[in-house]
Amino acid sequence: MHEQIEELYTKAADFIERCYGELGLPAVQQQQRLQDIKNEIRVSGTYTHTPTELMHGAKMAWRNSNRCIGRLLWETLEVFDRRDITTADEAFDALLDHIRFATNDGDIRSTITVFPPRKQGRDPIRIWNHQLIRYAGYEVDGNVVGDSANRAMTKTCESLGWQGAHTSYDILPLIIQEDGHLPKLYKLPDGLVKEVPISHPDIPGFEALGVKWHAVPIISDMRLEIGGIDYPMAPFNGWYMGTEIGARNLADEDRYNLLPVIAKQMGLATNSNRSLWIDKALVELNIAVLHSFHQSGVTLIDHHTAAKQFKAFEKKENSAGRPVTGNWTWLIPPVSPATTHIFHKPYRNDIVTPNFFHQASPLDEE
Ligand code: ARG
Repeated sequence: MHEQIEELYTKAADFIERCYGELGLPAVQQQQRLQDIKNEIRVSGTYTHTPTELMHGAKMAWRNSNRCIGRLLWETLEVFDRRDITTADEAFDALLDHIRFATNDGDIRSTITVFPPRKQGRDPIRIWNHQLIRYAGYEVDGNVVGDSANRAMTKTCESLGWQGAHTSYDILPLIIQEDGHLPKLYKLPDGLVKEVPISHPDIPGFEALGVKWHAVPIISDMRLEIGGIDYPMAPFNGWYMGTEIGARNLADEDRYNLLPVIAKQMGLATNSNRSLWIDKALVELNIAVLHSFHQSGVTLIDHHTAAKQFKAFEKKENSAGRPVTGNWTWLIPPVSPATTHIFHKPYRNDIVTPNFFHQASPLDEE
């Protein structure tokens, strides 16, 4: 066998053994499957996952995601197998289904939709967006309106003919590209994207700031790798942990930079660091996020509960005989990290597959 082909078979066999083992499938079935895969690879240079393999492989990829604190729930992932899709139009429809299903009117369901795998080094279909739902960012005389993290994507959308309303919360369209075709732009239909207006339980005037965030984070630019097969388009979502929005998206200086605005609203003196006005504003903003999602009936987890869940995950993995890998710098929450057990122990950041990987963005090749 050719070297690459042999490497693929090794990866496939490693996956199949663990997958079938975890699913408690009989050894004869596994042996037969390995034989079939060997033949398929010999004839075609690749192999095709069964729906069961795809489903369990995607769950394992979540379980192996070292940056994710929410992995206790890896087995609950809903997997939509859309390897049948060939056109950008069909892909767009499948993505709308994903958003609708995952949002579930606020009772969020962890979901992944898997599109066709890479074949002979070519990606049959790709999405250019980092997440299915993101806000545009515009540069206006040296300042940014909206989310500055998405300036490049906003410009690309504009170059493809899109025009936003120039509010701070314009939902970006999707850009989907079939192999060998020009990318196509798709607007998300009005009313599809659930958003949460941010208010505070007892700081008056908070709601009047007009801050909001979308309900579901759906990462769409990562490559899913299962048993040596690459899925370059496999958008997935869980639900938010409050700090992602309250301590990063809305708080980072190079994102929405709201802490000075909130401190002002709270009447805090911002001329001395020693007053900890930054910390006070940060905590209140995070309270507001937790409060608002709860009020809107949208699933969200606070970082203390998330850390407890992660502890349960570690215990569960240990009893299953699987070492827990993790990226400490990502696992610790950005608010009060040392109040969680995660802060106080080391994690091995070993990369285990199946997993999700960063990949070159078509956006950068512009
Ligand atoms: N941190 C990202 C954001 O704020 C989302 C990453 C995925 N988060 C999740 N809870 N699954 O949009």
